[in-house]
Amino acid sequence: MRIDIITVLPELLESPLNHSIVKRARDKGLADINIVNLRDFTTDKRRTVDDYQYGGDAGMVMMIEPIDKAITYLKSQRDYDEVIYTSPDGEVLNQKTANTLSTYQNLIILCGHYKGIDHRVREHLITREISIGDYVLTGGELAAAVITDCVVRLIPGAMSDNESALSDSFQDNLLAPPIYTRPADYKGWKVPEILLSGNEAAIDQWQMEQSMERTKRLRPELYQCIMHNA
Ligand code: ADE
Repeated sequence: MRIDIITVLPELLESPLNHSIVKRARDKGLADINIVNLRDFTTDKRRTVDDYQYGGDAGMVMMIEPIDKAITYLKSQRDYDEVIYTSPDGEVLNQKTANTLSTYQNLIILCGHYKGIDHRVREHLITREISIGDYVLTGGELAAAVITDCVVRLIPGAMSDNESALSDSFQDNLLAPPIYTRPADYKGWKVPEILLSGNEAAIDQWQMEQSMERTKRLRPELYQCIMHNA
């Protein structure tokens, strides 16, 4: 899978996408993550990517021309499944979307900045808008890193133990059960007895009950959804 991230702040994306599972997926050649500096597609000496808003409101707007040039250049190299714009207006990212995106070959993610982008980009060049939650970030880079991280870890082979993706929270709309490691007793805070029992069927049953209970208590709207679909 290839992900091209178009940004005015390439440095912001370096560290988040160079560690742990994402780094390993890149090293193994499972994910080719390419950071594209939008300023490389400007033509003026100052490498301008933004301008004042028509209508006089405060806040700079990202110009259509460099964005169009960057996307057109990338599209001349290969076909893309989606051209994503990171925006608080978009569909809110969830595990289902991450699963779907992880099956794609090539993605472009355009990071928003300043007050936003010229609306014609959204009308003519973007195929999907994704938000990472109902709050406003300074720019789309952290959102692009979040999207890339949760997608790349799902590519088959990215994780050493594929089982661990299947048992993630949200994979079946349930929160994950509590997990523990040694010591079994720390300052009198004990690991639940059942996990030490070696009885796999009983452990599975306990974990399922814990998942249901935690989902009902912590995310009642998710729980309603599961009950509705059951
Ligand atoms: N850009 C600014 N805020 C954002 C958000 N919540 N999600 C995605 N992109 C954003």
